Amino acid sequence: MQLLSSFLKHNKTDQDLVEVIEVLMIACKEVALQLREGALAGVLGTSTLTNVQGETQKKLDIVSNDIIKKVLLDNRLVRGVASEEEDKPVWGDHDGRYLITFDPLDGSSNIDINVSVGTIFSILEAPKPWAKQDEAEFLQAGRRQVAAGYVLYGPSAVLALTTGKGVNMFTLAHTGDFILTEENVKVPEETAEFAINMSNQRFWEPAMQSYIVDLIQGEAGPREKNYNMRWVASMVAEIHRLLTRGGIFTYPWDSRDPKKPGKLRLMYEGNPMGMLIEQAGGGATTCYEEILDIEPGDIHQRVSVAMGSKKEIETLKAYHRTQAKN
Ligand code: AHG
Ligand code: MN
Ligand code: MN
Repeated sequence: MQLLSSFLKHNKTDQDLVEVIEVLMIACKEVALQLREGALAGVLGTSTLTNVQGETQKKLDIVSNDIIKKVLLDNRLVRGVASEEEDKPVWGDHDGRYLITFDPLDGSSNIDINVSVGTIFSILEAPKPWAKQDEAEFLQAGRRQVAAGYVLYGPSAVLALTTGKGVNMFTLAHTGDFILTEENVKVPEETAEFAINMSNQRFWEPAMQSYIVDLIQGEAGPREKNYNMRWVASMVAEIHRLLTRGGIFTYPWDSRDPKKPGKLRLMYEGNPMGMLIEQAGGGATTCYEEILDIEPGDIHQRVSVAMGSKKEIETLKAYHRTQAKN
């Protein structure tokens, strides 16, 4: 039985990075407790507030954001944080080495129906920890992440973590420890399972339309095999399924709000999940370019996302290379 901290030390992870990950897990355990209590803790339901992205915040979006922000900013190694639920980055009192971006509660439309949600995080090195604090410090391409992961709050709470040396999973035990339960996780190269919100079909680009039509045709269509479909509406749960048994997950650009490059957010969702999937041997693309290569222009930037089994991602990209955009 291996604890998270001893696993990271054994893997020769930078001591400072180990400390930040451990501190982050203290916060995630507190979020897990709040979720477990649910209605008993009075945390279910919607608040009267709207976040910077124009979304109505659930009470638990705010509770989990406050917990994670406070725990991180108390740590000497954390220079600042950027969250999906904050208008601007929030800075600590220290010249810390690290910047952390996070989605405190992903899939929050599932809270009130008691379906899995999660916390997604990305850890970056502060480029100039001594200099004046500047939002631009966060605008680093996903390739520069030093660690990324999520905690899935499902029937069990599971941390999926990468520090750039593969992906490992740790399950939260009743003792409060995260214990290694899956080592060196790999996404199977091929799959027969896809995840997309089909209700948006009429708004997709022609390439995405024909890709999905071909999947649905199954054995009778050009792909010559039957595909199964899933949609949890929690990216964390979808990515966990990909890491566990393969598949493809996509939230593509659509024409409901054509100026938005996508629904999901690059710094809180696309980059950390992209790093995990690539580290597990899968692909992470906008359908046109690798997500991790995007140079961000804004901390709340959105992105079109397709991730999963390598060969299926290559096929999806080929549809987009050969068909004209809208
Ligand atoms: P969040 O709860 O952080 O706003 O993210 C929800 C995201 C993602 O988890 C999920 O895949 C997608 O939104 C679901 O969107 P639809 O409700 O459009 O299916
Ligand atoms: Mn989210
Ligand atoms: Mn969220």
